[in-house]
Amino acid sequence: AGSGKFFVGGNWKCNGTTESISKLVSDLNSANLEPEVDVVVAPPFVYLSQVKNSLTDRIEISGQNSWVGKGGAFTGEISVEQLKDLGSKWVILGHSERRHIIGEDDQFIGKKAAYAVGEGLGVIACIGEKLEEREAGKTFDVCYQQLKAFADAVPSWDNIVIAYEPVWAIGTGKVATPEQAQEVHVAIRDWLKKNISAEVASKTRIIYGGSANASNSAELAKQEDIDGFLVGGASLKGPDFATIVNSVT
Ligand code: G3P
Repeated sequence: AGSGKFFVGGNWKCNGTTESISKLVSDLNSANLEPEVDVVVAPPFVYLSQVKNSLTDRIEISGQNSWVGKGGAFTGEISVEQLKDLGSKWVILGHSERRHIIGEDDQFIGKKAAYAVGEGLGVIACIGEKLEEREAGKTFDVCYQQLKAFADAVPSWDNIVIAYEPVWAIGTGKVATPEQAQEVHVAIRDWLKKNISAEVASKTRIIYGGSANASNSAELAKQEDIDGFLVGGASLKGPDFATIVNSVT
């Protein structure tokens, strides 16, 4: 780990019930979390209030997505204003499931990020290549293009965390090796240095996502440019998530 405070996010995706979430919250409330780590969880929207009202303030709340502008007649969408109203400090944008299953493109995601940042929400900006792109030697190109779409749109990098999530590692149990992750993280940092500024490059947290779990997080966290994790499956188990938080070095 290198830049800034270690950052660990739990992306609960479309999982959970009132009952399972109440158990997860109580496990998180009783977990011992290293103090020098920013910890954030992103529950499904319908459980945001439940979580906000029962979870310790030690852990911040994030949305899993947000509408591209001010709320209004957009059936099924959730606005940045509503996320803030419920106490969210963050929103995850550009997640591969939104890009590749729902079909959100770079430009739309960039606009969402600009709007959320402008309204004062922190953005967890996700990028990452698919397996065929990696195999075709296009990993860096894909990441740079997705990064550029964020960079072209956002007014400032003060409140942005970059999550590198190789698509082939998400939910597959096939985690990137520490070397594979480090190689891309350092490339992202170099890109920020060249295209934004040395200051943004050194202070922006770059976190890893994709089958991170309680057994592999410590090795990954040792890498110089891995500043934390965005965790899916393993964030649904309180004790495992706490172990990942505490893998800070
Ligand atoms: O956003 C986190 C995510 O996509 C990783 O999911 O289940 O592989 O940890 P998972």
